[in-house]
Amino acid sequence: MSNPTPTSISIIVPTYKEVENIPKLVERLEQLKTQYPDWVIELLVIDDDSSDGTELLVELKQPWIRLIVRTENRGLSQAVVEGLKQAKHEFLVVMDADLSHPPEKIPEMVQHLKKGADFVLGSRYVQGASTDVDWGMFRWLNSKVATLLAWPLTRVKDSMSGFFALHRTTFEQGKYALNPIGYKIGLELLVKCDCQNVHEIPIHFADRQYGESKLSFKEQLRYIQHLRRLFIYRYSLGTQMAQFAVVGTSGVFVNLFVLTILIWFNVIVELAVALAIGVSMVSNFVLNRRFTFSSARDDSIIKQFLGFVGASAIGAVVNYAITLYTLTLIPTLIPQLAALVGILGGMFFNFAINRFFVFKDK
Ligand code: GDD
Ligand code: MN
Repeated sequence: MSNPTPTSISIIVPTYKEVENIPKLVERLEQLKTQYPDWVIELLVIDDDSSDGTELLVELKQPWIRLIVRTENRGLSQAVVEGLKQAKHEFLVVMDADLSHPPEKIPEMVQHLKKGADFVLGSRYVQGASTDVDWGMFRWLNSKVATLLAWPLTRVKDSMSGFFALHRTTFEQGKYALNPIGYKIGLELLVKCDCQNVHEIPIHFADRQYGESKLSFKEQLRYIQHLRRLFIYRYSLGTQMAQFAVVGTSGVFVNLFVLTILIWFNVIVELAVALAIGVSMVSNFVLNRRFTFSSARDDSIIKQFLGFVGASAIGAVVNYAITLYTLTLIPTLIPQLAALVGILGGMFFNFAINRFFVFKDK
């Protein structure tokens, strides 16, 4: 009888100032090792230079524990990605160091991977799951809203979870596309590794005993930035067009505002319309470069501005012509309404030129 290859697992734990929690975590993982003596398990502690004794502590430990200290590009997600890349084994598990995630669930997670799941989540929001009682209303609501925002990307119940397992091949499938910021590395992997068969298992999410959460308000804001990236990744053209339209709408207000003021000062309508278009063009450029086409921000701003103005100039002529033509068609129409019609025509024209010529990726 041939010996089947043993189950091998890399457990990746990002840490920042968790020196009090690590011994407890190691203890519980050791129990797991005793329970499954034929499993090969490595623990990777990915520390962002906590300088709290973590290094000393981890290095004194057994050979199945590896420590990686990072000093650059800090952050929870980045640490996890580093860990996933360094991991040696077939099954990859990611969990927090503060014992919020029960290591005892790892065998069940691995079972599901063996049975064909792409990705297994330790979930707080499926039947049988629970959280410690003093989870405040605010944290709960916050977590629910964050999950809801990710709905168009994934239908799992707890996409915010930091406790998950995946097969190494699943990770390799998406690893070059990974570009996370903030805390939601699980969501990043779900999207980028194109996980179809996701299984959620209930966990009890315990409150940490030592130290405090590093999930600051700033990290929460990063989530919005992260979501934006994921939407662009998944729905690139649609997201871009939507952003272009939002920027364009802001430009409409700028345009109408300037136009109203100029007309108020009795500037002749031909000039007022042209000036209003000019000012809104500049504000549109700034916003589109910053948001809509931010992936092309490495390119020279001068070159892009000239391109944008050049492209918009044609669009502006289209806009100008449509506006004045509308006014000659309906002389009684207020100029603001005619301007709206012109803006719309100019906008469609502009999107296409900007997307495919001015803000070209790479
Ligand atoms: N290397 C590294 N670098 N590790 C970090 C960093 C960092 O910048 N920030 C936090 N960590 C580590 C912590 O040391 C801990 O092991 C783990 O990441 C989770 O951090 P916590 O600060 O305990 O996060 P939390 O409990 O508020 O959030 C957890 O639950 C959320 C769901 O409510 C995390 O699992 C989140 O991913 C999850 O969304
Ligand atoms: Mn925690």
